[in-house]
Amino acid sequence: MPLFDVYPLYDVTPVRAKGVHVYGADRKKYLDLYGGHAVISIGHQHPVYNRRLKKQISKIGFYSNAIQNPLQKQLADEIEAQSGCEGYQLFMCSSGAEANENALKLASFYNKKAKVVAFKNAFHGRTSAAVAATDTPKIIAPLNAQQEVIFLDFGDEKALEETLRKEDVCAVIIEAIQGVGGLDMPTKKFMQDVEKLCRKYNSCLIADEVQSGFGRSGAFFAYQHFGVTPDIISMAKGMGNGFPVGGIFVHPKIEPWYGMLGTTFGGNHLACQASLAVLEVLKKKNLISHAASLGEAFEARAKTIKAVKKVKGRGLMLGLEFDFEVSELRKKLIYEHRIFTGGSSNKKLLRILPPLTIQQKHFDYFFNALEKSL
Ligand SMILES: Cc1ncc(COP(=O)(O)O)c(C=O)c1O
Repeated sequence: MPLFDVYPLYDVTPVRAKGVHVYGADRKKYLDLYGGHAVISIGHQHPVYNRRLKKQISKIGFYSNAIQNPLQKQLADEIEAQSGCEGYQLFMCSSGAEANENALKLASFYNKKAKVVAFKNAFHGRTSAAVAATDTPKIIAPLNAQQEVIFLDFGDEKALEETLRKEDVCAVIIEAIQGVGGLDMPTKKFMQDVEKLCRKYNSCLIADEVQSGFGRSGAFFAYQHFGVTPDIISMAKGMGNGFPVGGIFVHPKIEPWYGMLGTTFGGNHLACQASLAVLEVLKKKNLISHAASLGEAFEARAKTIKAVKKVKGRGLMLGLEFDFEVSELRKKLIYEHRIFTGGSSNKKLLRILPPLTIQQKHFDYFFNALEKSL
């Protein structure tokens, strides 16, 4: 039976991985500067991760959310302690789109409004409301287009106020650092304006931290660089280092009721252990400050390369912008130098999303290869 052919694929078949490297069936060793799309946070096959998952699966791997699972509370407390987001409530699910879907639904339950404000170039996932809030018309089916989403420019405070003033917007959803869209960021002032206007007109502020969360930007959550307090924070990707786990932090002003949200797989024992492993390693190895300082060193080095027109992003959520499309460059990097990198909807941007355990020597190898490839 053929696979439903929706992905263009590189001709590499990973069979094993360790740390920041992936090993192909071709017996070649690849440097992973893509992290399986910002998913690998503490490195492939981390011993803490393997140990926790193996131990858990030998006891109980899964049961539904109809029983007590103390691991969920343990996880909520640990994320709260490391992120400093006090007083929120955790609801768990299994992916980034699902996290945003639940976030949008919750906002609408809370204030009984139905429209959404999102931003140009946003990516929030591929499910119903999440894809409607994604600024890529070709992936929005007529079914999804029934949701009413208004896309605004970062910085357009006037349009935001005009839209929110109508009092029919349940949520403003924002990536503090855009991922798929190409690493654009709002200014601190605009982010704070968004928060202020959400409060004024009773709309929920949703921070989409699916890609930027769990330390990738050099803070636990990227919105924390901007000094705002979201009503809902969505997370996934790096949260599980490859295990499908996602969640939302819900502000205490939003009260739960039985049946409001639900999931079969979300928050299962293995998912919790995967995320607890990530948190254990983030803390022990100081990976968040490591991401911040290595990101700065990367930026300084990148700026010495003439062909690089702009360095974008923060921490280890980075992009290099050129004045040409990067698809051939990415092929050279992967097939000639054995380095995985990422693309984005900005075709001139090379995305760098390595495991947070990456070291300077790996970036030295990358810059050397990049200069040879240009
Ligand atoms: C910011 C952001 N939100 C949501 C998603 C969707 O996550 P998932 O693919 O786990 O559904 C992504 C995926 O790339 C993302 O980058």
